[in-house]
Amino acid sequence: MSPLKRTLVVLGSFVTVVALAFGGGFLWLWNDAKVSTVGKEQFENELSIPPLAKSRLDKDGTRVFDLRMQAGEKEFEDGRKTSTWGFNGAYLGPTLRAERGDKVRVRIRNGLDEASTVHWHGMHLPAEMDGGPHQMVEPGGKWNPHWTVDQPASTLWYHPHPHGATEKHVQRGLAGMFLVDDKRSARLTLPKKYGVDDLPVIVQDVRFDGAKFDHGHDMMRHVGFLGDRTMVNGTLRPYRKVGDELIRLRLLNASTARTYAFGFPDDRSFSLVGTDGGLLEQPARMRRIQLSPGERAEIVVRMEQGEKTVLRSFPQDNYGGSWQTRFSGGDDSFDVLELRAAKRLRASGDLPRRLGEPEVPDGKNPARGRFFDLKESGINDRAMKMDRIDETVTRGTTETWTVRNNNGVPHNFHVHDVQFRVLEVNGEAPPPELRGAKDTVFVPNGTTMKLAMRFEGPADPDTPYMYHCHLLAHEDGGMMGQFVVVEKGQQAGTPSGAPSRGHGHH
Ligand code: C2O
Ligand code: CU
Ligand code: CU
Repeated sequence: MSPLKRTLVVLGSFVTVVALAFGGGFLWLWNDAKVSTVGKEQFENELSIPPLAKSRLDKDGTRVFDLRMQAGEKEFEDGRKTSTWGFNGAYLGPTLRAERGDKVRVRIRNGLDEASTVHWHGMHLPAEMDGGPHQMVEPGGKWNPHWTVDQPASTLWYHPHPHGATEKHVQRGLAGMFLVDDKRSARLTLPKKYGVDDLPVIVQDVRFDGAKFDHGHDMMRHVGFLGDRTMVNGTLRPYRKVGDELIRLRLLNASTARTYAFGFPDDRSFSLVGTDGGLLEQPARMRRIQLSPGERAEIVVRMEQGEKTVLRSFPQDNYGGSWQTRFSGGDDSFDVLELRAAKRLRASGDLPRRLGEPEVPDGKNPARGRFFDLKESGINDRAMKMDRIDETVTRGTTETWTVRNNNGVPHNFHVHDVQFRVLEVNGEAPPPELRGAKDTVFVPNGTTMKLAMRFEGPADPDTPYMYHCHLLAHEDGGMMGQFVVVEKGQQAGTPSGAPSRGHGHH
């Protein structure tokens, strides 16, 4: 062989080796990106039910709760202690419960060594009580938000919202439910014995590295953190014995990035009775319910005597493309919670035909429309800034917000303070699961949604509410904007409460 030829041969094989290694590496990444726990879980731990938070009545009739953010340790697996954060305990928090019309006050104490906040996701309240990034609570500090609950019966939740560190704070365990009841829901023949036939189901995906949480983001995962297993209410491999024919599951996706499509292995249908902001007008029969981070759904499932069934999350096909689907968790599946029915079940009767009256505007004659382009780099190409007000809305008006994702990556969209109606999805009427009151919606690539919402106030030109992608790594990275509610003709002011110490990336 001539020297030139030899060089070419050597070079050629080198290129081939590199190509093979690259291809092999890619194949490995591709295959490794798909996770499933279906059929693999031994459901051996009894599902824990977050306790109902105790409250007391103040002299003026205010219902007062205490929440303390604290560090702790929890044995998710026998004999292995994981460091965690929680409210009033090692992991997650108690379920707060109040009735429409109640005056409530929550005495927050920050027992952590980092500043944080407590946000009331889905709650209609004054901006300064919202618990967003402008209401930081310093280590050792206190915060006593108070408001009057004025919205229909619903499954809401609370979690920290420090700008740049929300993912970390939620992942360590700071989250809990806030249930609202009203006169109408009290009269309905829906399962409503908390922890008996009405179960809170807080779903999170996790990954362990020995006893420790592994919160690392994998390569190619544009959505952020995706775990390789799930837990419910902080219980791994959970089962729950049930003794009633009808079981109501209050599903909350408290994961940081993962979207689930819940259903059952035998494809039985269940009734969707409520969405983020409360009960639907009537139950809707379905076999799957998809929930992106932050969304809730109340479903009622019928059990047979003596049976076992599993709440499962199935693969999803609406992420917009096989690449995104694979690397954003759309091909994954999980056995989430086993339900074990007693040999004899208490009869539950039929579901009521009429449930609630979603209080969301119909979107006719909006005062104005706005447009939000969802991009990882920032909504409408602007990364979040604490001292910039992005939108100014007038108290007492209805607006339509159009949200578009052609960013190639799945996103979702959450608006503080309001519940909205989904008017259109890609120009068409929304499916049944998007026909109730919503505060968070999944907006996969290739989707445009039109939402209608009404801003009731009170006006506060200096204190913004947030709207953002609830994939927490995106939110922390700047996929968030701020709006203020003002009186007619009033100008937006200057956000008070500059960003605080102890937040940000470490
Ligand atoms: Cu659940 Cu702005 O948050
Ligand atoms: Cu929120
Ligand atoms: Cu996003």
